[in-house]
Amino acid sequence: MLDDVRFSAGEFSTSIRFLSDPTQALEGVQLALFDTNTRPLLGSWSGPEVVWPAGESSKSWAQIDSALSKALELELGRDGVLAGVGGGVVTDMAAFAASLYMRGCKLVLVPTTLLAMVDAALGGKTGIDYNGYKNLVGSFYPAAELRIWPGFLQNLPERDFRSGLAEVIKHALLGESDLHSLLVNQRQAILAREPDVLEELIYKAIMVKVGFVERDFREKGERAFLNLGHTFGHALEAVAGFDGSWTHGEAVCWGIGRALDLGVRLGLTPRGYQREVESLLLSYGFVLRAPHKDAGALLSALKHDKKKYNGHVRFVLQTGFGQCLQTTADDAQVLATLAGGI
Ligand code: GLY
Repeated sequence: MLDDVRFSAGEFSTSIRFLSDPTQALEGVQLALFDTNTRPLLGSWSGPEVVWPAGESSKSWAQIDSALSKALELELGRDGVLAGVGGGVVTDMAAFAASLYMRGCKLVLVPTTLLAMVDAALGGKTGIDYNGYKNLVGSFYPAAELRIWPGFLQNLPERDFRSGLAEVIKHALLGESDLHSLLVNQRQAILAREPDVLEELIYKAIMVKVGFVERDFREKGERAFLNLGHTFGHALEAVAGFDGSWTHGEAVCWGIGRALDLGVRLGLTPRGYQREVESLLLSYGFVLRAPHKDAGALLSALKHDKKKYNGHVRFVLQTGFGQCLQTTADDAQVLATLAGGI
């Protein structure tokens, strides 16, 4: 089993524990928050719980309220230990609830998807959707402990597994050459979810994010590079209606393709690098075209994105492996980029 990792983010400190047995996941926890998909994963838990309906539509005030009122009913104090067990929706919401209860109680996160293990449960951004805006309301509140049991991934549906791989690929492109080599050289083993390779993959992907979060917790600078592919990807998810036709990871990979395309148009991204990344994405089964989508609708959705700067959308682009920058672009160039991806 992998060694524990400790890191600091602003005034917070997080320890990451890799578990050998899922029954350790809720040790010392006083209130466990699940969704209907993840509750059965820890069937032996018999302590207090709240089980949210699975899915993005749960990311609401009403569900946060259900967790807070349960914590109050249990008379938890500031030293109460609240845990979130699930994918990105549950870990974002549990962390938001923990940040609010008594102005912050102890938070344990138990990510059950690859995406949550390497990304969503790590980094401290919490939140809910609000008035049609994704993650508009939230806080910065990293978990005191992240408890990772890679065994959860063995039963994850294939599309959810690949959705997590998208973030792993993105982390590699941000400059982790060992992770990139692993993705290129061990593709079969990764897709077959061989436990040893998977552990190495998770560990390396986590360490990329830990580095960004430690250096720039409040996203004043380089942490924004973790949004590579996300501005375009969120627009696609919004136009698709978050209906499951595109998973988050599939949309992010499409978005990485569009970011490379825009970078080439602006003379920033070398064509050779674009081809190399596209072939890696295709080798993992990601698609770089979104047929039947309307470029104008994608542009409107993109402008709706909250990551704006002085009214302009800022794109994370790459000038090469591990080399990122943020820039704005004319609507005409963005529209041509979007049209090239449908
Ligand atoms: N919750 C995801 C992050 O902090 O990046």
